[in-house]
This record gives sequence, structure tokens and C-alpha cells, in this order.
Amino acid sequence: MQFIATNQALTELKKDCLVAFVGADGELGAAAQQLDQAANGLISKIIDQGDFTGKQGQTLLLPVVDGLDASRLLLVGTGKADELNDGKFRSLATGLINSIKGGKIASVALNLDDIELKDGRDNAWKARLLAENTETALYSFDQMKSKEAEALALNEITVVSQDTAAVEAALAIGQATGLGSNVTRNLGNLPGNVCTPVFLAEQAELLVEDCDEMTLIVLDEDQMADLGMHCMLSVGQGSVQPSRLITVEYKGAGDEQPHVLVGKGVTFDSGGISLKPGAGMDEMKFDMCGAASVMGVLQVLKALKPKVNVVGVVAAVENMPAGNATKPGDIVTTMSGKTVEILNTDAEGRLVLCDALTYIERFNPATVVDIATLTGACIIALGHQATGLLSNDDDLAADLLASGIEAADRAWHLPLWSEYQQQLESNFADIANIGGRPAGTITAACFLSRFTEDYRWAHLDIAGTAWHSGGKEKGATGRPVPLLTQYLLSKV
Ligand code: BES
Ligand code: MN
Ligand code: ZN
Repeated sequence: MQFIATNQALTELKKDCLVAFVGADGELGAAAQQLDQAANGLISKIIDQGDFTGKQGQTLLLPVVDGLDASRLLLVGTGKADELNDGKFRSLATGLINSIKGGKIASVALNLDDIELKDGRDNAWKARLLAENTETALYSFDQMKSKEAEALALNEITVVSQDTAAVEAALAIGQATGLGSNVTRNLGNLPGNVCTPVFLAEQAELLVEDCDEMTLIVLDEDQMADLGMHCMLSVGQGSVQPSRLITVEYKGAGDEQPHVLVGKGVTFDSGGISLKPGAGMDEMKFDMCGAASVMGVLQVLKALKPKVNVVGVVAAVENMPAGNATKPGDIVTTMSGKTVEILNTDAEGRLVLCDALTYIERFNPATVVDIATLTGACIIALGHQATGLLSNDDDLAADLLASGIEAADRAWHLPLWSEYQQQLESNFADIANIGGRPAGTITAACFLSRFTEDYRWAHLDIAGTAWHSGGKEKGATGRPVPLLTQYLLSKV
């Protein structure tokens, strides 16, 4: 997709489609009024007749319009300004693209001045979200179907705004974010028999191949054993798929301390010997979405080349039952030296992450954020709207919360009080891997916190936000790539 920023009036542009935004009760902004005048009052006529009300998300595509160079006019309802929040703007942008993507329209132009947001967002902010959601709206997963989906006609979007420089920069960031999210969605949507730990390592190889700022380290099981990562290895022990620890270093800022991202990459989570129930088990192919979001963010960095140092780590294993699989009650030694009693082999994410979180100490991180589909309890606590956020550093938590708001990809802060730690006590090892039913998301983070004491660390539980379950929408969402992108760009 080509995005263009211009300060020319819409009425002067010769495109396949011009967009007029219509507010609640048919209110027209300045640009829409110009279009209406040029089109001899067509828009106001349609509104007067009651055929278009301007309700949020409503769209109407009109064919060849007299008085305009463009061959089509698209009306898009923006609703009441005081109800148009960031998330609704995101849906509006997606709805706009969805309403035209199936047709013959190749080029579209719109003026962002006519959309007023509840939280007073400027045109650069709107442009960024528009570009991001254009790319994500055009995504489809057809790689595993025998027939490829038809190519789409849409290839150019022009944004009219006075501050063209700011809008142009924002469009580039938004586009990179959208394409990065699509990388994440694609890896998430791939089935477990294709997207294995070794496959993820191959994808990382492809990623760094043509990027001078990136280097790759892939550890195999022997190398991990040499480092003492027996906790992570215990998870992949019952699988025929070998585990991999994948590290991509992105250097955009000399020898500054890096920001480290660690993704849970359980390419299939059967639960292991603590086997999950059959219904919906297929969705545990999405249990590597944390890792996929790290890959997505690395893709964004590759596109934008910001002046920041980032280390992206993918901890990739498959969790399967077998005669040689880890059993409840087994005790393993972590890379840190701490011992863990594995009371439930389905609480495997933390077992994988703890060793990765010890491994990354060698990078002397400025901050560390792990991203994981860690607990079903997080879905109970926050549903599918917010990512769970827990941290050993309130400033870092505030920073990530703010990034989520700015990127319209929100997280919510849960407590990590020391009182919760007692739920992890074990009679037989230093720590148990489960803490009982109460506060399951918090006790999972408590477990991780035992391995992150030496640096500023935050944990994002994306169990509720990483994918849509069931229905036509079923599939990976790409979250929290926008949040993480915003976070890293704020460090430049
Ligand atoms: N990958 C799951 C968490 C999960 C479940 C995410 C459903 C999204 C949807 C994780 O490995 C897991 O199984 N967690 C257990 C922990 C429990 C055994 C303490 C859970 O949440 O039930
Ligand atoms: Mn599990
Ligand atoms: Zn899992």
C-alpha cells in the first residue's frame, strides 16, 4: 500500500474514491461541505432524505458523481464526537477499508480534519491508526488453503491535512505497525504442525538476513542444557519437536543498554501430562503469540530503523504428553539455580520464561518486557479488551500503560504485592509452579518475578487479547504489537 500525505483539497484530487465523513445527525465538516458543494448538494440531499444519518460506522458508496473528478464518493458515519474514542476510531478505520476492499477501487483520498475524537487526537495520530488498520484490514490468511485469495485492487491512500510532514511520518509508523501485526497474526494462525520451534528459528533467520542492524543467536537443546536451562527444557521434553531459544539483537543506538522483549513461544500447548480438555484445544496453537509479537515488533524495527537498541527473545517449545514427559511432582533446576516443583505441567509458560529471563541478564538490559499467553485467569479478570500488566517497577508499568493508550492497544495494571508470593510455597523445592485458584494471573507473574529481581521488568499477559476465539473472526489479533512499538519508539 502506498500512503500519501498532501495539503491539496479533496475536490482537486482525481482518485477512484473520495471519502466524506458525516457526523451524527448528518453534520458535515469543512471538507465534506466542499465535496457536497462540488457535487451539487448530493450529500446533503441524501442526508435530508434520511438515507444516511452519520451513525458511527455507517458507510454508503455512491457511483460516479457529477462535479467531481473522482469516480466514486464514500460516505462514512463518524457519529457523535464525544462518543468517538480511540478504540472506536480504530474500528471506524477498519470498517472504512473493509467497505471498499472487495471492489475495483485502487485509490482513495480522505481529509482527517472532519473527524473529531473524544480525546482530541490530532491528524498525525489519526493517520497513524488509519495506516495501521488499513494494513490489518487487508490481511487474510490463505496460506494453508489450496486456492490463493484474489489480489485486492486497493493500492493507494491519500490523506489530506495541513501538517503533511507530521502526517507522512505517522503514516510510515502506522503502516510498519500494521505490517508487523500481520507478521504476528500469520505466525499465530499457522498450525502447530507447521509453526514449530525450529520453524520459528528459520523465520528469525529470514528476518535478520537482509538487515545490517540485526544479528541472530539460536540455541539448540544441548546448548541450553550446557547453560543449565533445565526448567525450559523440561517443557519440551515430551515432544518430538526440539526446543529452541532464539535471540535477535537489533542495534540502532550504538552501545546504549537495550530494551529486551521475551516472548512465550509454546508452539502447541496440550497441557502435557496435565492434559487439557479436548474442546477448543486447537486454539493452543496460539500459545506462541507472545513470541509472534516479538517477531512482529522486530519486523517493525527493521522497517523503521529507529535509534534504539532492542533484544528480542523467542523461547520456543512444544508442550506434549509422552512416556518421557515431565510428570506432576517432578522437580527441575532452573538456570538461576533455583529449583521448581512442577505440580501442573499445564503451567508451562512460566517454566519456559523463567530460564529465558535469566539468560537475558547477559545483555545488561535497560528494561525487560515479557509477553505471554500465560493464564486463562487473565481472561476471567480482564476479558478480551485489556492485556494484563504486572511489573516490579511502577515507572515502567506507567510507561507501558501510557504506550497502550497512545497506540489504542490498552493494558491494565494488576498488583504484584509480596503477599501473593506465599501461594507458591513448596514443601519439596524452592518454589512451586502453581499457586492455586485465587489470583492466577498474579501468582503466575509472582513466579516470574523470582527470576527478574536484578532489572526493571514488566510482564504482559495477552491470554485474552492475542486471538479471537471462534466464528468468522477466529484468528490472531496482532496485539500487543502496537503497544510495544509505541513503547520502543518512545525510547528514541
Ligand atoms: N497457555 C495457557 C493459558 C491460556 C489458556 C491462554 C487459555 C489462553 C487461553 C497456559 O499455559 C495454561 O495452561 N495456564 C494454566 C495455568 C494453571 C494450570 C495454573 C491455566 O490458565 O489454566
Ligand atoms: Mn498450559
Ligand atoms: Zn501455555
